[in-house]
Amino acid sequence: MGLKILKTGSSLPENIVENSYFEKYLDTSDEWIKKRTGIEKRRISKDIDVCDLSKKAVEDLNLSDEEKSKIKLIIVSSLSADYIMPSISSNICGHLNLHKEILAFDLNMACTGFVGASILAEKYLEIDEYAIVVGTEVLSKYMDFNNRENAILFGDGSGAVLYKKTVDNFSCDSGTLYSKDLSLIGKSLDKESSFIEMNGKNVYRFTMEYVPESIRKTIEMSSYSEDEIDYFVLHQANMRIIKGIAKRFGGIEKYFTNLNKFGNTSSATIPICLDEMNKKNLLKENQKLLLSGFGGGLNYSTCIVLSGGK
Ligand code: COA
Repeated sequence: MGLKILKTGSSLPENIVENSYFEKYLDTSDEWIKKRTGIEKRRISKDIDVCDLSKKAVEDLNLSDEEKSKIKLIIVSSLSADYIMPSISSNICGHLNLHKEILAFDLNMACTGFVGASILAEKYLEIDEYAIVVGTEVLSKYMDFNNRENAILFGDGSGAVLYKKTVDNFSCDSGTLYSKDLSLIGKSLDKESSFIEMNGKNVYRFTMEYVPESIRKTIEMSSYSEDEIDYFVLHQANMRIIKGIAKRFGGIEKYFTNLNKFGNTSSATIPICLDEMNKKNLLKENQKLLLSGFGGGLNYSTCIVLSGGK
């Protein structure tokens, strides 16, 4: 069975922070950041919290009453929820005024969460049923803006996809290796005591070791050849990672990227990419899209979904 993207939406904070901002007070440069990561700017929320950003992303789906009636599942992937209960997914049910027969929950798989949630959606839905999967983060509240290794990487944003379960082929692969190389551990969740900490080199090595293998296995298990994959949409962590993987699969022209504009928005990167591709009319009916997320856990998930066209 398979998953088809019917609609996409996104929401990004208005405040744009260019690399030059960090040059003013950190020992870094626009040139270093661009060369080592590919990032030129990112959005940093000044006044909108992650729940409201998520509501705007699902509003952007512009759901009809008929589409709403077919929704059976909502999964919101986030590591930066503002509070524990009610969940962001419950908030979305209320905000969209959805019927009550919906399984809705939030999950935290860090940057891998959108793909993990997509895999769960495919396993849960019956043919022709719909799910909303959201990736959403305001990571800036957990960033140490005085740490040049982390501050330059991350951004805030939210993306949403309306999926339909279909009879098409679906293949996926996931893995988890416990590690604190990318962590957010604090006594409390207030912004003074909890910051994202990362051993960038180890995360880089982990990614280059495990993600290509996960992509290879996912294609091998599918009914598609590598050449039949129309787009590879990877977690937007670092352009060097994406280019390295593109040398092994597909070629860089098949990789959609926007990390130059938005940085690493954790679980939001892939749905934000999908929405931009959709709005640019790049997605045509039945194109095969390979999605691969990786990050804190450490973990990774890959799957192939179909585009439903605009
Ligand atoms: N500006 C200038 N110099 C910086 C810097 C910055 N923002 N951040 C680190 N440096 C310095 C380091 O301190 C180091 O200096 P030294 O040689 O004097 O010790 C030097 O640059 C090289 O550091 P290194 O860690 O080897 O850089 P790198 O090429 O590995 O790039 C990352 C660092 C973080 C960009 C890279 O490791 C990375 O992207 N890793 C994966 C991170 C990731 O994707 N995380 C999210 C996964 S979801």
